[in-house]
Amino acid sequence: MNKLWLRLALRMARAIVSIQFHSMSPSGKNNPVPLRVAGREDESVRVLISRERIRKRIKELARKIRADFQGEPLHLVGVLKGAVFFLADLARQMPGEVSFDFIAVSSYGDETHSSGQVRLTRDLDSSIEGKTVIVVEDILDTGMTMQYLLSIFQQRKPKHLRVAALLDKPERRLTAVQADYVGFRIPNEFVVGYGLDYAERYRNLLDVGVLTIGKARKKKSARRKHKKAANDDRASS
Ligand code: IMP
Ligand code: MG
Repeated sequence: MNKLWLRLALRMARAIVSIQFHSMSPSGKNNPVPLRVAGREDESVRVLISRERIRKRIKELARKIRADFQGEPLHLVGVLKGAVFFLADLARQMPGEVSFDFIAVSSYGDETHSSGQVRLTRDLDSSIEGKTVIVVEDILDTGMTMQYLLSIFQQRKPKHLRVAALLDKPERRLTAVQADYVGFRIPNEFVVGYGLDYAERYRNLLDVGVLTIGKARKKKSARRKHKKAANDDRASS
């Protein structure tokens, strides 16, 4: 009799662990409920683009870029930090000669809205003169960051200058900047995962998801938005 109870208890414990594991796993097919992180109960992430779709789309983009520049060495310039996974996957799907470098910028604003004032915080290691450069960015939002980067890069006389953005939020655009290669057009929602962050968190999620912040945090965030820009300096990527 005791053994039966023990077996029953073990089975129940296993079931509970399994339910918890699925709801905490970094999303994907097996995650029917939004992801929540311990200690961040007022935030949740709902999957928008699964890791499978991302992988498939990046393969297509890599082939398209290579087809446009057949036989040419390609120099990928990743915008830190949001574009790291995109660049890593894009580079590895790309046949032929590929090199890469990174640049970092910071923009003033709160955690979900950029003010559009951009400054360089880390420059490239090497010259891009005469190279076929693909700027690799996580997301085109207002387009201010990319406009700033393209103006810098153009002065350095690359042979070709193109933009690859994993995500594009065309509704939010304040500039004429367009990406030559876009992974996914998304609605005007704040997204995290696959490199994209909220206050430096969620970059490690394998999928891209929409972040929902609870009421308390939203109010705080709105207040912060109206604070002096210099106090809210943050890494944009
Ligand atoms: P911009 O508004 O196009 O200049 O975008 C600047 C940067 O803001 C992007 O490179 C991202 O790092 C960040 N960003 C814009 N939209 C989002 C978002 O929905 N989630 C996370 N980061 C974002
Ligand atoms: Mg970025």
